[in-house]
Amino acid sequence: MARGADFLGADHAILAGAMSWVSERNLVAAISNAGGFGVIACGAMTPELLDAEITATKALATKPFGVNLITMHPALSDLIDVCARHGVGHVVLAGGLPPGGAIERIKASGAKVICFPPTLAFAKKLIRSGVDALVIEGMEAGGHIGPVSTSVLAQEMLPEIAGTLPVFVAGGIGRGEAIAGYLEMGAAGVQLGTRFVCATESIAHPNFKKAFIRASARDAVASVQIDPRLPVIPVRALKNASSDLFTAKQREVALSLDEGKVAMAEAQLQIEHYWAGALRRAVVDGDVENGSLMAGQSVGMVTREEPAADIIRALLDQAAAALESRAAF
Ligand SMILES: Cc1cc2nc3c(=O)[nH]c(=O)nc-3n(C[C@H](O)[C@H](O)[C@H](O)COP(=O)(O)O)c2cc1C
Repeated sequence: MARGADFLGADHAILAGAMSWVSERNLVAAISNAGGFGVIACGAMTPELLDAEITATKALATKPFGVNLITMHPALSDLIDVCARHGVGHVVLAGGLPPGGAIERIKASGAKVICFPPTLAFAKKLIRSGVDALVIEGMEAGGHIGPVSTSVLAQEMLPEIAGTLPVFVAGGIGRGEAIAGYLEMGAAGVQLGTRFVCATESIAHPNFKKAFIRASARDAVASVQIDPRLPVIPVRALKNASSDLFTAKQREVALSLDEGKVAMAEAQLQIEHYWAGALRRAVVDGDVENGSLMAGQSVGMVTREEPAADIIRALLDQAAAALESRAAF
């Protein structure tokens, strides 16, 4: 993990993937202080809100942390400026290929840029654009997902790109044995989200945490696209009534598209706003029926609320034991 840890400036190369509404000051600082690398989820925050969140996180964190920005945010450029003013060391760009100039502007501030390549071709393109590290994330993950599993992405991409820059593997990681496996394949580290939702320091509503503790892997299902004309990125979440609400939302947006009331980009933005609102209802208000319970398949390995430091310790112990037993053969 040394290469990944050096890159992050953390004790261990365990990134806590940004989770909208969940990855705020308390969880981010707790993860970083415990030796992992916390990342603030900017989500739909305004530049003023992000500014306040970074200030508050700095007051709690004794170690570095990063900020995750969504590329389709209309104020992306201002958000980059906020990160630069604070001297944020690592900016993670999520939600599609970064718009022209974004990577250069972040790098000019002295920060490192981390992106998510959906395919090997995109990974190579991002490397040519100057990104400093990549996260490859499989469809086992919680939240927005691509169509390919983590194990296949890791086999396809690590041999080709892990020699060029640090690559972190994400999606479906619940235990340290899996971390050991990806490190052996050439990863510089890993990123986990679901496993950290029930950290004691996470401000997620008790109902949200209870739903995670009760759920098994097969409860975390991908959303279904109902209209071929309206491509929506699938989201993995625990099954509940919100799946029907999402179907209704897609019909409503598809109708506006048909009637020429909105353009495709606006239609897709409306879908993303829907998710942000639905996730807030569940994480903040505790409405676990009508809100979105974004969760990855590793949710079955979340069995109790425990401090972030204990989660990280357990992952490291499991990874070390796995590597030692393999070395003994
Ligand atoms: C509740 C929830 C919210 C998430 N929100 C975001 C987000 O705002 N931005 C982002 O890049 N990824 C988001 N993710 C993905 C995580 O950052 C991380 O990559 C993913 O959870 C890793 O897979 P795992 O859940 O299998 O550990 C979210 C995941 C969850 C579970």
